[in-house]
Amino acid sequence: MCGIMGYSGLQPPVPLLVSGLERLEYRGYDSSGVAFFDDFGLISVVRAVGKVSVLKEEVKDLAGHPGAAIGHIRWATHGGVKLENAHPHQSGPIVLVHNGIIENEQVLRIRLKGEGILFQSETDSEVLSHLVRLEYEKDRNFPEAVRRALGHVEGSYALAILCQNDPADLVVARNGPPLILGLGEGETFAASDIPAFLHFTRQVFSMENSTIALIRHDEVRVGSLDQTVESWKTPVSRTISWDPVFAEKGAYRHFMEKEIFESPRAMMDTLADRVSFGNILPEIARKAHEKPPAVAFVACGTSWHAALLGRSFLEQAGIPAFVEIASEFRYRRLLLPPGSWVIGISQSGETADTLGALEASKRAGFFTLGISNVPGSSLEREADLCLLTHAGPEIGVASTKAFQAQVALLMMLALALSPAPPREDLLESLIRSPHRLELFLESVPPESLDGRVERLRLSSLVMFAGRGLDYPLALEGALKFKEITYRPADGYPGGELKHGPIALIEPGVTVVAPMVDRSLRAKEISNLREIRARGGYVMAIGPLIGKDGHEIWYDDRIELPDDPPWSGIYQAAGILQLLAYRVASALGNDVDQPRNLAKSVTVE
Ligand code: F6R
Repeated sequence: MCGIMGYSGLQPPVPLLVSGLERLEYRGYDSSGVAFFDDFGLISVVRAVGKVSVLKEEVKDLAGHPGAAIGHIRWATHGGVKLENAHPHQSGPIVLVHNGIIENEQVLRIRLKGEGILFQSETDSEVLSHLVRLEYEKDRNFPEAVRRALGHVEGSYALAILCQNDPADLVVARNGPPLILGLGEGETFAASDIPAFLHFTRQVFSMENSTIALIRHDEVRVGSLDQTVESWKTPVSRTISWDPVFAEKGAYRHFMEKEIFESPRAMMDTLADRVSFGNILPEIARKAHEKPPAVAFVACGTSWHAALLGRSFLEQAGIPAFVEIASEFRYRRLLLPPGSWVIGISQSGETADTLGALEASKRAGFFTLGISNVPGSSLEREADLCLLTHAGPEIGVASTKAFQAQVALLMMLALALSPAPPREDLLESLIRSPHRLELFLESVPPESLDGRVERLRLSSLVMFAGRGLDYPLALEGALKFKEITYRPADGYPGGELKHGPIALIEPGVTVVAPMVDRSLRAKEISNLREIRARGGYVMAIGPLIGKDGHEIWYDDRIELPDDPPWSGIYQAAGILQLLAYRVASALGNDVDQPRNLAKSVTVE
């Protein structure tokens, strides 16, 4: 949903902005641009349609003069994908980049046109540049001009702004979309996400909503939008533990592939210090004494699939649990029993629908728990309590390692909330599952998937089916598959196939079936037999247990180890991710940045 970056310091800014934008590219890739001071002290703006690589080529011989500079990558909302709509937008001495949506854009545009302003683009962001310029012309006080201009604006924004007359100064402001400051030695970064500057500093400060900051090298002052600049204060930063290596592809072709193989580490770091007999999820221990009468999960996409698994874990622990799509839940009547918890799950911690659902729940008086992967994210700040997964930054747009980390955290949550002492076998299985996943991923020779990838690529239709714990896995397998291969794919509860979807089965159709839920295995097998009887090709993913006669119920089976309960969930998820990745790569698709998608969806 667009990414912004700002810098003030002594390094030549252009290469640094471009590499930061490359790391933010998962947020949008319709166009990009930078603005910086040239050696004559003038602001230079360079923009390009397409990926950051196009911009990179255009600025390859430019370094920019040390001082303040800004950059942007765009995921088009207002106005088509064309050069004039690319950021930065300039109005006289003011140049800015914007992530968000200005809701009263039309009213402001008409007013500004009435004042003789000529618009160059169809974007709502351009309106902001003119508003700031008009305020600046009143007293030539740059930060105050921004603050006053924002007083006219309704909507959401993360902004980074330059002024021709103050070459070291960067003004940034936030209301809605994320904006994080990276505080270095003699320099400061501002960006939509931490990986943009992780190579330079791990000291971060997350801007709150309705705040603004004036940055000059390493002097930073932050204040609320209703306070004048004199009362803004130096922020207190926190150190994050993320390793800059997370933001590099290393020997892998794509971030997605690298992140699939980082899943064991993501789980391990998420479980670390949080699970031992009698001490599970210490962060929640006090609150967990008041067991909720019910829990409602709210999430979107992959996080919603993790929530479906979370529901099963909580039900096994005897806690009634519901799972809701966040964008629907937020507009429903919240008829949960008093004292219920609402749990928002979001990798980015910035998904507008999930945040909206949690906000509505909070207003209705429910305790809100966030599960997020990003320290300092809006979810962490806005939920009553937030548990972080420690998957490290996830850069591939399709979520992978974060899913496994979320599932591990949800297993801990169920154990922590269970009225009975945790079952030793489950605890043991959970502690060992990262290592089991690692061993398993290492044991799958890439060439063993070649034939399977080819079959999926050539299938007239690929469907995913499963029951119990395998149903959320089927949904996740289908989502991964469709979002990066661009082929239609749906996940079904195995028992539901006969109520309609089975009409799709014919020779040429492949049904991928995760098979890790032992309790429903016999029923799953009979559903798969029905598929085969109608000419469908069944590709099962699971261990061979007991006397399963393979010639009867599947055509192909990807062998999972016969590990204790729960370990299989991670292994099946890993295979589903790998299959989708490999098919999409074989099709030549842009796996890390699939069309039309953005990593964190900060608009409704
Ligand atoms: C799918 C995917 C999306 C996200 C969804 C929610 O691979 O990445 O479906 O899971 O947009 O994002 P978060 O978890 O950041 O709220």
